[in-house]
This record gives sequence, C-alpha cells and structure tokens, in this order.
Amino acid sequence: MATAPPDLQRPITRFADAQALAAADMAAVDALIRARLASDVVLINQIAEHIIGGGGKRLRPMLVLLAAQAAGYAGRDHVLLAAVVEFIHTATLLHDDVIDESDLRRGRKTANALWGNAASVLVGDFLYSRSFQMMVEANDMRVMRLLADTTNQIAEGEVLQLLNIHNPDTDEAAYLRVIERKTAVLFAAATRLGGLLAGVSGAQEQALADYGLNLGFAFQIADDVLDYVSDAGTLGKNIGDDLAEGKATLPLIYAIERAAPAQAASLKRAIETGGLDSLDNIVAAIRDSGALERARQKAQTYADAAKAALSTLPHSIPHDALLVLTEYAINRSH
Ligand code: IPE
Ligand code: IPE
Ligand code: MG
Ligand code: MG
Repeated sequence: MATAPPDLQRPITRFADAQALAAADMAAVDALIRARLASDVVLINQIAEHIIGGGGKRLRPMLVLLAAQAAGYAGRDHVLLAAVVEFIHTATLLHDDVIDESDLRRGRKTANALWGNAASVLVGDFLYSRSFQMMVEANDMRVMRLLADTTNQIAEGEVLQLLNIHNPDTDEAAYLRVIERKTAVLFAAATRLGGLLAGVSGAQEQALADYGLNLGFAFQIADDVLDYVSDAGTLGKNIGDDLAEGKATLPLIYAIERAAPAQAASLKRAIETGGLDSLDNIVAAIRDSGALERARQKAQTYADAAKAALSTLPHSIPHDALLVLTEYAINRSH
C-alpha cells in the first residue's frame, strides 16, 4: 500500500518526517535498485555500485512515493517507477561529472576520476537503458510517453547548457531555460507519476506536475547558490565547479547585472576563461553585489509557487510532506 503508516499521524514539519513517511516504500525502492543494477559485465557493477552506494538524498524517488501517497494510490508500481526515476537521475550524474570534469560526488571520487570518461558515459547509458527496460514493466503507455519525453528534454537541457558555456552574455532567461529541462522536468515527471498511477483527475495530475516543476527550479537555483557558498565536506561535491568550467549560473548572472562596470567586466572574463584562479575574488564580488540573496529570493518564489500548486489537492499527511519538501529544497545544506 502507498498509504501513510497509521502510527505516523504527528504533524509533518521537518525533512526527516517526510523521509519517515516514505521510509517503508523507500526500503523497497532501494532493494529494487540494488537488484536491477546487476549485470554480468563486472565494470558495470563496479561503477554503478560506486555511484549508487554513495547514497545521495533520494529526493526524486521520494517525490514519486509521496505524490503517489498524496494521490491515494494503492498499488505497487510507485516503487518500480521511483527506482526508474533514480536510475535516470544517476545516469545524468555520471554524464554530468564527465562534462563538468568534476572529481567529487556524494563525498566520493567521481566515476570519471576513478575509471575515466569513456567508462562513465557508457555506464550512464547502461543505467538509462536499464531504466527503459524497467519502465516497460509498468505496462502503461502514459508512463512510457512521460518518461521518454522527460529524458529527451533532459538531454536537450544538457546540450543547451553546453552551448552557453563560456558565454558571458548568458542571461536569466537563458539560464532558466536550461534548468527547466536539465532538472525541473524530472521533478515534474516524478510527481506527475504519482498522480498518473492513482488515476486522479487531469487537473490534479497537472497540479502535482506544477508542484514538481517549480520545486525543481527552486532546487537547482539552491544548488547553484551552494556551489558558491558551501564547502566540499558538507556538500559532497567540490565547490566552485560551475565557475571553473565557465558556467554562468544565477548568482553570477545577478552579480554581473548589479556590479559596477569594471567589476562586471572582470566577472565576464572569469566566465570566458573559466578556472578557479580568481574564485575568492569572484565569490567576494558575488557576495558584495547582493546576488546570493537575490538568487535565494528567486528560489523562494519557485518554492512558494510549488506550494501554491498543491493547494488544489485534498489535505493529507503526505500532502504535508510535499509542502515540507519545498522548504527543504531551498534551505538544505547539501
Ligand atoms: C544533483 O542532484 C544534481 C542537481 C540537479 C543539482 P541531487 O542534489 O539530488 O543529488 P543527489 O542524488 O542527492 O546526490
Ligand atoms: C545538474 O547540474 C546536473 C543534472 C541535472 C544532471 P549541476 O552540474 O549543477 O549538478 P551538480 O552540482 O554537478 O550535482
Ligand atoms: Mg555538475
Ligand atoms: Mg551544481
């Protein structure tokens, strides 16, 4: 059953409460993930185990589970589809770390740092295609269409982002176009799946998708702020990665908009050249310009929109958990 355990009636106010609500289903998801990682090609097992075993927040599968609960779903396919969504996410991470030349992920050395780019890309492809094998098992054309469209948009988002690399004129609109596709659409698919499985009305399914989409925007903007203000120990990823590869994310875009001309010119040069030589100066410039507060405010606006989208759904404990996740997405430390 996807319904909330009867003993969990206390108010849901923290991320840990939302996790607890999803815990029983999530144990089943984790078991399925482990079982479906298997391949008789040893290198696939090694790399897939390495990245999956690194943990991660499991936020996207949690969204599938909680949305299914909130929609009153009483079957078992939410577990399968939560695992599918995490496989898609993990495949994008393997590819992303190659593209971003990152060497730390989930507190571990990245797969590309340990096994090289080719192996990482190919195992990412393995996880993508495994996720397709699994989604077919749900035997629902609507599910397949949604996830096929979503993975295609993620790929578009990654390519769009690539086109913006080292472009100092990347503006907020261009940035938002990228993060919608590379991040937000998977969040939207995760929450829509819950409604779709439960067979809720079209309006309610759309509300769940709107919630997920806005949550995804908020989550990625928060990630892009953390890339400037956190530290590797807390984040499990190296900070400054975005600047290092010449990626103009919202904090930098806002700083350029507000900085004095000389300062703006130096920030633009940093995007053109990439690298971390001037990270300290750039972070100081971003801080001084008020860009971090403005980016956090933008994330808050999306989190509020996510909350508002949920207001059309009937009240329930899993509904509360989804509300709590809007706060978590923007206030998290990693
Ligand atoms: C990282 O996602 C990629 C982004 C969209 C920012 P998460 O922060 O959810 O990564 P894990 O799964 O917890 O490691
Ligand atoms: C998110 O972008 C990447 C994907 C959606 C695959 P980032 O490049 O910011 O993700 P991290 O920071 O490396 O996790
Ligand atoms: Mg990255
Ligand atoms: Mg990032």
